[in-house]
Amino acid sequence: MGLPVMTLGVSTWPIVDGIERLHGPVTVVRRCLDLTELLAAARAGLGRAALVAEGAEEITASLLEQIRLGGAAVLVLEGHDHRRLAGLGAVVVPGRAAPADAARLVEEAVAAAAGAARPAGYADVSGTPAPPDTGGSPGQDAGPPLRPGRVVAVWGPTGAPGRTTVAVNLAAELALLGEDAALVDADTYGASVAATLGMLDEAAGLAQACRLAEQGRLDGEALRRAAADVAVAGRTVRVLTGLTRQDRWPELRSSAMTTVLERSAHEFSTTVVDCGFALEADEELTVDTMAPRRHAAALAALERADVVVAVGAGDAIGVPRLVKALPEAVAAAPGARLVVAVNKLRRSAAGRSPELGIQEAWARFGAGSALEQFVPWEPETFDTALLAGAVLAETAAGSPARAALRELAGRVLAEPEEHGGTQQPVVRGTRLGARIGAWLRR
Ligand SMILES: Nc1ncnc2c1ncn2[C@@H]1O[C@H](COP(=O)(O)OP(=O)(O)O)[C@@H](O)[C@H]1O
Ligand SMILES: [Mg+2]
Repeated sequence: MGLPVMTLGVSTWPIVDGIERLHGPVTVVRRCLDLTELLAAARAGLGRAALVAEGAEEITASLLEQIRLGGAAVLVLEGHDHRRLAGLGAVVVPGRAAPADAARLVEEAVAAAAGAARPAGYADVSGTPAPPDTGGSPGQDAGPPLRPGRVVAVWGPTGAPGRTTVAVNLAAELALLGEDAALVDADTYGASVAATLGMLDEAAGLAQACRLAEQGRLDGEALRRAAADVAVAGRTVRVLTGLTRQDRWPELRSSAMTTVLERSAHEFSTTVVDCGFALEADEELTVDTMAPRRHAAALAALERADVVVAVGAGDAIGVPRLVKALPEAVAAAPGARLVVAVNKLRRSAAGRSPELGIQEAWARFGAGSALEQFVPWEPETFDTALLAGAVLAETAAGSPARAALRELAGRVLAEPEEHGGTQQPVVRGTRLGARIGAWLRR
């Protein structure tokens, strides 16, 4: 079977000319002179491999991903930013490679991309293993393999159920419990972690980190530089602040977000991500599957999450919203343990026994998952903290809301078998249960 190759840059020509003279399976289908042409050819699925030289400097992680999505493995000619691209997973072809060796590298790269096991001696043939200073992907780091840290995605439906409040306080409580905690603001509709913590300097640390990830330059040190150290209750939380303007959302691309979270999990024991609400929003609007998507950041966080904290508001609007949106979040987080938290719990909205009312609604419509944490409605407590740019551990250490958030941190850290959720007998006949039942049956 033929193995069509696309090339970028004239320096690839002597090599592919040599390969063609072998009359083997590797043949050249397109010699592209610029990156746009290569991307178009890749999208059209013209080649199974792309060998790049001049123009390789412009290839970011996302563009590499686009080429791969088109079905092509990427190889880079030595001397054309090959160290960086090797850090992003491209195979390096030595400048002096004989045609037969180059052809073999192409075949092996295609086989590896197709999921076949890497043939033995693969790295030896290329002669250019990725140097340790690329820091491109955590998998290539030298040193003993560390157990990666936990990623906790805080998600909740639209309507300000308190995702950011929970994320910020959760990160603080985790730090107080001894975790080396990072906090990432990945809400592409209304980033507000920096504002909640009273941070004046808004440098959009997450966008910076994503940019470096795109270039294959995000090592641990760069990640720490992009993050701001925020002192909370005597501990430090490393904060990657969110977008300063909503229209900057294309900066948080899926592949870059995945790299940032992987790197953060490598550096910190727990990474809490404020995901915002939207998971599907623009999916149907675009037929271009390679275009950036506004919900990519949230999806990348859910995809990588070890724990998803789903936050809903404890009232007749918040609970049905959570019930309806939850399956999508769960489906987006295949490897995660789910912890459902009901926030803003209050009698005025959920009845005389608000927990029972919510429990009833949930037991009837909540699709099996346990409600694990209630956080009471305490407007003054939260307003005071917000005004001070502080967390409850600092401004209201003895409040019931703080106790609930601390408990939530304990649940996040607990091993699955240690926590059984709040298993309450199913109640019937609460006002909220009936009300939400009617709403969901519509
Ligand atoms: N349990 C609570 N009691 C009272 N107010 C709360 C509570 N939780 C959050 N809030 C307030 O609700 C508002 C929205 O919270 P926020 O966390 O920004 O929502 P989201 O991130 O879901 O949009 C903020 O003013 C916050 O202080
Ligand atoms: Mg928010």
